[in-house]
Amino acid sequence: MNEIIEEIQKLKEERNAVILAHYYVDGAIQDIADYLGDSYYLSKIAVSCPQDVIVFAGVEFMGESAKLLNPNKTVLMPDCNADCPMAHMVDERFIAQMRQEYEDLCVVCYINSTAQIKTMADVCVTSSNAKKIVEALPNKNILFIPDQNLGKHIAALVPEKNFIFCDGYCPIHYLVTSKDIKQAKALHPNAPVLIHPECKPECVALADYAGSTSGIIDYATNDQEHEEFIVVTEAGVIHEMEKCNPNKKFYLATDKLICSNMKKNTLEKIRDCLKNNTNQVNLDEEFMTKAKKPLIKMHELAK
Ligand code: 13P
Ligand code: SF4
Repeated sequence: MNEIIEEIQKLKEERNAVILAHYYVDGAIQDIADYLGDSYYLSKIAVSCPQDVIVFAGVEFMGESAKLLNPNKTVLMPDCNADCPMAHMVDERFIAQMRQEYEDLCVVCYINSTAQIKTMADVCVTSSNAKKIVEALPNKNILFIPDQNLGKHIAALVPEKNFIFCDGYCPIHYLVTSKDIKQAKALHPNAPVLIHPECKPECVALADYAGSTSGIIDYATNDQEHEEFIVVTEAGVIHEMEKCNPNKKFYLATDKLICSNMKKNTLEKIRDCLKNNTNQVNLDEEFMTKAKKPLIKMHELAK
């Protein structure tokens, strides 16, 4: 293990590279990352970091977004098959049809979307900035793509807007049922339930807090009253929660909460992509100009 970490450090220096990692990747990668965070934080870092090469330990839409915001940098994915199924779950014809139907429509696109879908959007959001951004939009009609569950969560927080959804969802968070949460609560009655809003509304309704991965970690860290928490998001977050809170206990609501795509990232693959300059994110220039617009708007409105 130490050997491979040393190799990665050396390659990072040689190539002037930085490693960004999402909380859902393996703990061993989280530990060696230069920056670890939720989707919005990592997207901000991708804009501001000075290095020539970005290694993104996450899934494809994260690497693509980093490239869109840094067209002149080399962006490497440790595994180019690590993709988020939800990123594809919206029909482009549906977006076009809604644009025809609603004159003042704003297409609000979760960052968990392909670059192709981003070309059809007005603004991107993440779970940590969606409420703020939707509230700031002048439009009454919001087409929220592709995650219907995050969309419904935000719709409940911004009742003055009219939301239209598509039928996309995260296949991992979708597996959680209200029965799972009730069972976890029965086992740990003193533990607040912390949930990601990619879960179904009936599950979110049972939680004490709903927010992004960073929001969930911060909530548990700042809570002085409780010593144990039920976590309803991908298992990877528990690594950082335990590191920040060695005296608190964290229970995953169900062992179904594993994102196999995030887990495709390994230390070996990080070393190899740095060494061989493989798995570069490459996007056509004209296409990038269109796809980066909603991301840039997100960064302006979320400030
Ligand atoms: P956040 O880290 O922004 O909460 O996103 C969760 C997620 O599903 C990333 O794919
Ligand atoms: Fe996509 Fe869900 Fe995995 Fe996040 S947890 S990357 S939304 S499949």
